[in-house]
Amino acid sequence: MARKKIALIGGGQIGGVLTQLIAMKQLGDVVLYDIVEDLPQGKGLDIAEASRVDLFDVHVKGTNDYKDIEGADIVIITAGLPRKPGMSRDDLLVTNAKIMHLVAENVKKYAPNSIVIVISNPLDAMVTLCQKITGFPTHKVIGQAGILDSSRFATFIAWELGVSVKDVNALVLGGHGDTMVPLIRYANVNGIPVMELLERKYKDKAKAKEVMDAMVNRTKMAGGEVVKLLKTGSAFYSPASSAIAMAEAILFDEKRVLPTCAYLNGEFGINGYYVGVPAVLGEGGAEKIIELTLNEEEKALLDNSVKAVKELVVDMERLGL
Ligand code: NAD
Ligand code: LAC
Repeated sequence: MARKKIALIGGGQIGGVLTQLIAMKQLGDVVLYDIVEDLPQGKGLDIAEASRVDLFDVHVKGTNDYKDIEGADIVIITAGLPRKPGMSRDDLLVTNAKIMHLVAENVKKYAPNSIVIVISNPLDAMVTLCQKITGFPTHKVIGQAGILDSSRFATFIAWELGVSVKDVNALVLGGHGDTMVPLIRYANVNGIPVMELLERKYKDKAKAKEVMDAMVNRTKMAGGEVVKLLKTGSAFYSPASSAIAMAEAILFDEKRVLPTCAYLNGEFGINGYYVGVPAVLGEGGAEKIIELTLNEEEKALLDNSVKAVKELVVDMERLGL
């Protein structure tokens, strides 16, 4: 069976890690594209030269020529600027929207049958714009943010409870911004509600709530926490790993239920916007949205997050981006 072809648009911090992860997992042949001359070629060659050590036969090619992405099955877009300390993801809107226009037009031209995973920020707006420019079916243009945000939430819970993160299930809904919604009620350790475990640990409901609220807040601010430490850019290992989980679900038709920035047609009472929700990911992309029964507080939090996404999309349209 012919190997799949995965095109990575953006050969920076995340793009480089994506290239190496795809190669080492032998997910398919990789074409790494960037606008900076020779950057993707250098990174591609460096990664390819480890093939004997890392035991992979997939081909890795760096390029500055969009023609090389011809016929890609999956396209992962990281092209754009990352945040610097003091910047919000929304501050990247104008610059990254202009980049997305260039990128999406070429994806439409050279990989018309691909499924697109967008990573560039501001995520929800960039996915929206990518789908609009490519004109691809909405289920074939999705965004990566919720897997990262949910993994951060799960990690903090595992650290707090002193349990394996492998047994922690945590879900974050909404936009990839400070209004994101870590779902406390759905967080569990092999089915045991996290709040129950916290209340047992602290023997105090108020203290348990305080500890959970701190983890929720840390999850929302986790991106900025890494930006503050790195000073020159933003997180890139964890976003890359998160996008790989999506790519694998699509490539192997895994039907995984993963938090995905997906287009809603009335689900959760939301129509015509991209928002982070649980979706079934398989060979068709976001094949199905999984709705949840939210209580009043959770619904209000999600509505607030959707409002932030809508404001960004309206800004983008107002600016003619
Ligand atoms: P980076 O600056 O290291 O890499 C971005 C790359 O895009 C650079 O190599 C740059 O040359 C390239 N580029 C710029 N304009 C281009 C164009 N027109 N065509 C092709 N390539 C172009 O940044 P990074 O750390 O890899 O982050 C990439 C994006 O991902 C940023 O917008 C960042 O905010 C975002 N991000 C998203 C998440 C998420 O979970 N969705 C997490 C972290 C970062
Ligand atoms: C994050 C930002 C940069 O790390 O999107 O979540």
